[in-house]
Amino acid sequence: MKRALLWLAATALLGVAGAALYLVAVFPRSQPASPEAIEVTPARLARGTYLAQHVLLCSECHSDRDWTLYSAPSVLPTGAGRTDCLGAGQAMAGLAADFPGRICFPNLTADRETGVGAWTDGELLRAVREGVDREGHALFPIMPYFIFRHLSEEDARSLVVWIRSLPAVSRAHPAKAVDFPVNLFIRLVPQPLTAKIPEPDPANSVDYGKYLATIGRCAFCHSPREGQSPEPVPGRLFAGGNEFRGPFGIRLSSNLTPDPSGLGSTTREEFIALFRRHAAPQPVLPEENTIMAWSAYAAMTDADLGAIYDYLRTLPPVATAAG
Ligand code: HEC
Ligand code: HEC
Repeated sequence: MKRALLWLAATALLGVAGAALYLVAVFPRSQPASPEAIEVTPARLARGTYLAQHVLLCSECHSDRDWTLYSAPSVLPTGAGRTDCLGAGQAMAGLAADFPGRICFPNLTADRETGVGAWTDGELLRAVREGVDREGHALFPIMPYFIFRHLSEEDARSLVVWIRSLPAVSRAHPAKAVDFPVNLFIRLVPQPLTAKIPEPDPANSVDYGKYLATIGRCAFCHSPREGQSPEPVPGRLFAGGNEFRGPFGIRLSSNLTPDPSGLGSTTREEFIALFRRHAAPQPVLPEENTIMAWSAYAAMTDADLGAIYDYLRTLPPVATAAG
């Protein structure tokens, strides 16, 4: 009996080791970085800066933030990474305190040693949409590359132009350390793009709003998800109720469907005004702060916020108790 158990245990272990070897051998999936040199144009720089700082919020994750002000706007130097890391017992607003290991928010400035100054344009493009670093190692999916893969060809290039515009700041971050078995599982997340992503048409307000609500991660935070899945629970897109923990305690994201427990009778103008009131964020007590980066989104254009509203209006209404 004992022997049989031992044998079973040994086979199970071998199975685990085999699965681990397979994961390491086959994943992460990646393809060679594009050899292109991305042309810097004023239009791309303007578009990239707008997207990075006011829609996709690369700036809010890759810079330190001032938690004494409402919605914790990012502080200079933009893109130099954060001085604190997640994990090793350190919590970070909105992210789990029990992070299995340590992960830092890297320096994206032009510094060659501590930033991405030595990366090629193609390597940056690939990191943002396909989730692998220079060496082809999987990036931890706190970096939302699984969402940024929906970025159009032109928008993705504009973002690289923005990264390239960040003046070099020498700021080193501790190396990442992700514990077993999570370090194996994250290898499954990166996926090479196999087709070109078309340009969205700003003239089609609903479609354009959907594009912005996707890449701006509104859908990610405002749709209930199960476990670690990036996909909304079926039928509950934008139903809200996602839980966020931070110095503010627990916050639930709002329902943004047309249901009365969601946007209800909120007009387009009122929706836009919700954002405008946070353009100059005020000092706030930690417990009254929020995870939603209102002050960064406040500089989105009327047309873009209006397009998001137009899209949200087309969603099937879903009732939520959490509201
Ligand atoms: C929710 C937070 C978050 C957002 C938003 C975010 N990032 Fe990241 N990013 C990270 C983290 C964390 C890493 C480190 C991942 C790792 O080391 O495995 C990272 C890694 C990267 C890397 C690889 C750098 C390196 O040194 O390995 C690049 C390039 C990058 N991000 C660019 C961007 C751009 C451009 C945007 C906006 C389009 C963006 N990030 C938005 C959190 C974020
Ligand atoms: C990091 C998660 C996160 C992201 C990303 C996010 N939100 Fe939110 N949002 C929240 C939470 C949490 C609340 C609940 C109220 C609060 O804490 O501000 C909220 C509240 C709201 C509200 C309700 C405001 C009110 O006064 O009732 C609106 C409207 C809204 N978000 C729109 C958006 C849009 C549009 C986007 C994308 C451009 C977006 N959110 C992105 C987390 C997020």
